[in-house]
Amino acid sequence: MLIRKASDIPSSEITPRAIYLKRRELLQGGLALSALAALRPQQARAAMLAFTKSPFSTDETPTRKADATSYNNFYEFGTDKADPAANAHTLTTAPWSVKIDGLVGKPATYTLEDILSHAKLEERIYRLRCVEGWSMVIPWVGFPLADLLKRVEPQGSAKYVAFETLVRPDEMPGQRGIFQPLPWPYLEGLRLDEAMHPLTILATGMYGETLPNQNGAPLRLVVPWKYGFKSIKSIVRISLVEKQPPTTWQSQADNEYGFYSNVNPEVDHPRWSQATERRIGEGSGLFAKRRPTQMFNGYGEQVAHLYAGLDLRANY
Ligand code: MTE
Repeated sequence: MLIRKASDIPSSEITPRAIYLKRRELLQGGLALSALAALRPQQARAAMLAFTKSPFSTDETPTRKADATSYNNFYEFGTDKADPAANAHTLTTAPWSVKIDGLVGKPATYTLEDILSHAKLEERIYRLRCVEGWSMVIPWVGFPLADLLKRVEPQGSAKYVAFETLVRPDEMPGQRGIFQPLPWPYLEGLRLDEAMHPLTILATGMYGETLPNQNGAPLRLVVPWKYGFKSIKSIVRISLVEKQPPTTWQSQADNEYGFYSNVNPEVDHPRWSQATERRIGEGSGLFAKRRPTQMFNGYGEQVAHLYAGLDLRANY
């Protein structure tokens, strides 16, 4: 595996603590670091796991890391919940770059190191509610998507943001063979104001470590008030566009998965209720405890205003 945990890196490669702390100080102050850019990619990534705690966090107890990293949806690696953890080690996540194009003043292919060297990383503990009826609480390490978007200077005509996952059949078994569960690349989209909302982050880690491949390494979206499928993994392209972009799940079943996909206990999926959820780790099968699902996954105070006047039954 090319990405190593900080604990796996020999001390000869580790930045001296004083420099590291100084860097953290600078990062917290929000400065771009030319010194960081000069580091080798692995060193830069390890150093970038210096983060602050975000006040946007929920105070709920996080799901066990073992559950959050072994019960996944990442169809590029198979459709079973256990497939991503079993198969995603084949994904090469370094080098990595993200093409940012469309209606922006500074379109370019940005390396991950460049993106991270401008990022102020925070730990944010968020609820994640999957459309299938289960939920988790995950301590992400990430930064506001808005910071990256501002850097590339969206033009006035940009109204939506489209996201794309990597297509690499050699490393992604779900993209090979006769049965392909979805068309590739996996696509997602947000309205520009949703993308710029301070709750929307790009995550590069979880549980204080580099993101495991099965959770979307090296860079994934997290939009906590929307069903989990909006949180697209292993992003290679971000495009600012004028028209609402196509999304993978909408293209599969428009009547089941809308563009908005805001968590809403009052609007059922056509085949099941969305009123309650099972928190992973709280029992299973018939004995699973179910808790009521909250409007906007509990983030209504922060995001409800984005949808003022919008019929949420029609715009599911
Ligand atoms: N991104 C890609 N590229 N492919 C996927 O299959 N699954 C989505 C989302 N992002 C998916 C994806 C779904 S359905 C969910 S619930 C979340 O990832 C799960 O994220 P997690 O496995 O980190 O909990």
